[in-house]
Formats: sequence, structure tokens, C-alpha cells
Amino acid sequence: MKKQMQIAIDGPAAAGKSTVAKIIAEKLSYIYIDTGAMYRALTYKALQAQADLEDADELLQLLRESIIDLKPGEAGQLVLINGKDVTDEIRTSEVTNSVSFVAKHAPVREEMVKRQQLFAEKGGVVMDGRDIGTHVLPNADVKIFLKASVEERAKRRHLENISKGFSSDIEKLKEEIILRDKRDSEREAAPLKKAEDAIELDTTSLSIADVVDQIISIAKEREQAW
Ligand code: CDP
Ligand code: CDP
Repeated sequence: MKKQMQIAIDGPAAAGKSTVAKIIAEKLSYIYIDTGAMYRALTYKALQAQADLEDADELLQLLRESIIDLKPGEAGQLVLINGKDVTDEIRTSEVTNSVSFVAKHAPVREEMVKRQQLFAEKGGVVMDGRDIGTHVLPNADVKIFLKASVEERAKRRHLENISKGFSSDIEKLKEEIILRDKRDSEREAAPLKKAEDAIELDTTSLSIADVVDQIISIAKEREQAW
């Protein structure tokens, strides 16, 4: 690919966004920005500080005190808050089940979006989240909305937990995914929504490689149309 593109990937929880976004970024030598990791980092910090997750001002203050860095590491992307590695801490179920409360506040989102847009100025970028095609990169060259059945998504998370040696309950995961998607879709500020010009891909019966190939061919078609 000659042109440095912006590729936006949105969709509900566990649709495969970060897995495919990471691979596409590697293949195209682009940077990868996991915006969910940024909301998770703030949530972790808020839980540590015993902040009131309903208090937008308190959360915004915590965010302003926090430099959130996303850096490539040997075993995947590292997430740092003010230089401290919190890559594993932001994936606990406590953070996962609290993050959509933090992410619903408009002032928090405005500050996050500013930071995400600054990251994207660095060149070719693959960014994944919930509002990338609708708010963060409204002029992205490629917009993808990934989805998959909730049963398949719960199964994928379950297998991921088991492969990491964690215990896992597939029915509980399914309930948590349904609840988080509901909160993310029903909030007023930049809800989870397919952008009008996004291409929807149902990955329920697609492999990771299939999804990656489809998105790269869409990007190549766009490039040729330039
Ligand atoms: O990977 P997973 O689907 O579990 O979620 P994530 O991408 O790490 O995002 C965690 C949470 O952050 C989401 O459930 C949303 O509440 C929030 N988020 C958001 O509001 N906007 C984004 N652009 C990305 C994430
Ligand atoms: O970022 P998001 O929450 O959308 O999903 P993910 O963390 O990238 O993917 C959830 C799990 O589904 C990972 O363990 C992937 O390996 C797996 N998976 C996938 O991403 N795509 C498929 N087509 C099949 C499985």
C-alpha cells in the first residue's frame, strides 16, 4: 500500500476488532491504536483511586493527570499510565465490568477523542473501538463494522480465558457481553453504532485470516479508487 490510510474498525465486545486490527497494522506497517485500552486504563486508575464512576468531573481530573501510552511490546501492545505498565491490570473482570460506566461521560470522551486524533496524525493507522468511524476519524479511508453472534463472541472469550489458564464460565461471559453492549449502545455520548458509510462484516463463521484478508482487500480497492 502506497497511500498512508486511516482504517477505522468498530463493533461490539469480542467481535475480533483488536485481533484483526493488530495483524492488519503489522502487515501494512501502520500504527495500531486500541482505544478500548485507553478507556480501560482510566477505569483502572479510577477504581484504584476509589473514584465515583458517576462523577464526570472527578474522572476527567484523573484523566488529565494521566499520560496513557500505547507501545508495541514483545508479547503484544503494552499499556502504560504515567510510565507504569498496566497491560494486565486493565483486563481484569472488575475493569471490564466497570469500563462502560466511565466511558459514558461526554467530557471524558471529548478528552479521549482529542488524544486519539493526535495519535492518528502520525501516519498510516488502524484504530479500533466503538466510535472511531462515527466520531474519532469521521473521514477515515476505510470504515469497518465487525459483528458476530453473541454466542460466538462469548465462546471466543471463553477459549481465550482457558488458553491463558484462567477459569471461565461461558454463560456468565455471554450475560456480561450483552450488558456491556447494551450500555455502550444506549449511552447518549457517541454510542456504539455503525457509521453510515461503514462496511459491515459478520465474522461469526469467519477465521481471523479471512477477516484480515477481506479488510486488506477493501483497503486496496479504496487505494486504487484514489
Ligand atoms: O475488547 P473489548 O471488546 O472487551 O472492549 P474494549 O475495546 O477494550 O473496550 C472496553 C470498553 O471501552 C467498551 O465496552 C466501551 O465501554 C469503551 N469504549 C468506548 O466507549 N469507545 C471506544 N472507542 C472504545 C472503547
Ligand atoms: O477486540 P474485540 O473485543 O472485538 O475482540 P478480540 O479481543 O480481538 O477477539 C476476541 C477473541 O476472538 C480472540 O481470542 C480472537 O482470537 C478470537 N477470534 C477472532 O478475533 N476473530 C475470529 N474470526 C475468530 C476468533
